[in-house]
Amino acid sequence: MSAGGGMKDMPGHVAIIMDGNGRWASLRGQPRSAGHRQGVEALRRTVRAASGMGIGVLTLYSFSTENWSRPAAEVRFLLELLRRYIRTDVADLHRANVRIMVIGDREGLEPSLRGMFEEAEALTRENTALKLVIAFNYGGRQEITRAVRALAHKVAAGKIAPDDITPAVIGNHLDTGGLPEPDLLIRTGGEQRLSNYLLWQCAYTEFVFIPDYWPDFDADRLHQAVETYRLRDRRFGGLTAQTA
Ligand code: IPE
Ligand code: IPE
Ligand code: MG
Repeated sequence: MSAGGGMKDMPGHVAIIMDGNGRWASLRGQPRSAGHRQGVEALRRTVRAASGMGIGVLTLYSFSTENWSRPAAEVRFLLELLRRYIRTDVADLHRANVRIMVIGDREGLEPSLRGMFEEAEALTRENTALKLVIAFNYGGRQEITRAVRALAHKVAAGKIAPDDITPAVIGNHLDTGGLPEPDLLIRTGGEQRLSNYLLWQCAYTEFVFIPDYWPDFDADRLHQAVETYRLRDRRFGGLTAQTA
């Protein structure tokens, strides 16, 4: 049942864990890289669909801080795929009025990759349709740690007092500072875990787990997940209208 018995609005912020590329490929007797390549097609479909549905923010988990532990060849392939995606798609995204943002730790990344992120962000900064947030070299614990360090430096420099630190202040020091929290989190690939994604931000997010592998994700599956979300009863610790 939904709150008050009615359908909720569209989710303003949808976050996705794009999982299952490797298994999609293995099932077809193909190398994992083939799954990643098809995963980019699913990503393109999803960005188009989200734009068309009027979703405000779409945050995609493209590479975690833990994904560096994969074989070097796969890591290299994933990084090259991201570079190619940015190179080929940024102009189209810009024309579609999409604003690109990248979250995650940029420290230690190759300067040329950082440069691409900065250029894409600068080019699309004024765009007002979908905000496409790419989580790259992203880990929720690392993000929170960076925020805590930044706050500690401010306290040490006398810029803020320890008692000024509130949940809102912490939230604003995260990479996602200024963005709304995700309303809906979708994970494909059947696993039901967060894998270090948006730990702070997902305090009251609705989770939808989909068995299909990411390369099979499409507009229909996005619509289905959104419909599931809209039937959920979000209580935020309170009571629903009919039981209040
Ligand atoms: C998601 O697919 C892509 C990344 C994590 C970069 P996987 O590569 O994790 O595919 P599975 O989960 O092994 O099938
Ligand atoms: C999460 O998927 C990271 C991304 C989708 C980028 P993983 O495949 O890395 O997660 P685990 O290892 O199954 O938890
Ligand atoms: Mg996986």
